Amino acid sequence: MSFKIAVLAGDGIGPEVTAEAVKVLQATGVAFEFENALIGGIAYDQKGHPLPPETLDLCKQSDAVLLGAVGGPKWDNVQPASMRPEVGALLPLRSELNLYANVRPAKTLKPLLQASPLKGAAGMIDLVVMRELTGGIYFGQPRERRDGGKTAVDTCVYSRHEVERIALQAFAIARTRRREIVSVDKANVLETSRLWREVVTELGAKNPDVKVTHMLIDNCAMQLIRNPQQFDVILTENMFGDILSDEASMITGSLGLLPSASLSDPKDGRLFGLYEPIHGSAPDIAGQQRANPLAAILSAAMMLQYTFSDLGNAQRIEDAVEKTLQEGIRTADIFEKGTKLVSTKEMGDAIIQRMT
Ligand code: IPM
Ligand code: MG
Repeated sequence: MSFKIAVLAGDGIGPEVTAEAVKVLQATGVAFEFENALIGGIAYDQKGHPLPPETLDLCKQSDAVLLGAVGGPKWDNVQPASMRPEVGALLPLRSELNLYANVRPAKTLKPLLQASPLKGAAGMIDLVVMRELTGGIYFGQPRERRDGGKTAVDTCVYSRHEVERIALQAFAIARTRRREIVSVDKANVLETSRLWREVVTELGAKNPDVKVTHMLIDNCAMQLIRNPQQFDVILTENMFGDILSDEASMITGSLGLLPSASLSDPKDGRLFGLYEPIHGSAPDIAGQQRANPLAAILSAAMMLQYTFSDLGNAQRIEDAVEKTLQEGIRTADIFEKGTKLVSTKEMGDAIIQRMT
């Protein structure tokens, strides 16, 4: 039996970094079958839509999805705005595939610690932001202009069910780590946050093996700078998670190296998920073999861990990444004097060579 992976390379550096992630997955020896489909600006140009129906169908028939990056200046002014790659491809992909649990680890890679903006050991963090991804203000209705355009309305909606399912995934992930969840909300102001806190508190009482505390979003933004080591799993809603995950990733100093997973419910006994680097399409360096493929490669490792429960191969890849960096092998984005500059492909090869 083989596993089917939909590969959506997308725009900019997407194809280059995704190719290295596919190479690494092949090097594990697991029987994967890869199938490519168009997404983003390239899909808009070739098919007239950033998320063509055949791409969505392929994802639905696959065990997991590997995504590169979408968007670029070429499509920034596409009209209507709903056809822009970010809004027209990423958001519907998330909701159509029911990818409600966004897992964004922020783990400092030891050889790159000096790149953290926090001084010394303060930048050494290992936390996960669990971001609700298919609800809240990103998807609330109505969303409209009123008074002839002079007033704008966005709506934030959460149901008990939506909070419960992301919280349960957070508990599951906390159990593989230090078993501490900080649930982040704005319960002193927002009704959705009060429901969020109520539901998470109830689940906390039913899962006493995990320690659950609550923090307001503004305080959390501050605590992440003051003492980021206090966090293990940060559980939060869609927009707060968007902001906090950028903040947390910056602390690692290696924004461009971080992977992510967007998970749904189990399908045929496996957790269906979409895996992608958190970085963008970097159109300025596209096609030059200068991009860093490590975020894409680490996303492939997350796929092995979450969808295929193959912790052994996931660890092999993570260890190979750390070893490669320790040996001073660098792509241009993280190059410094005394290290060895390599291309995107050479970085992929270096990882595979070190996958013992
Ligand atoms: C992210 C991005 C997206 C988001 C944008 C591009 C729609 O910022 O994945 O964090 O806000 O979710
Ligand atoms: Mg974001």
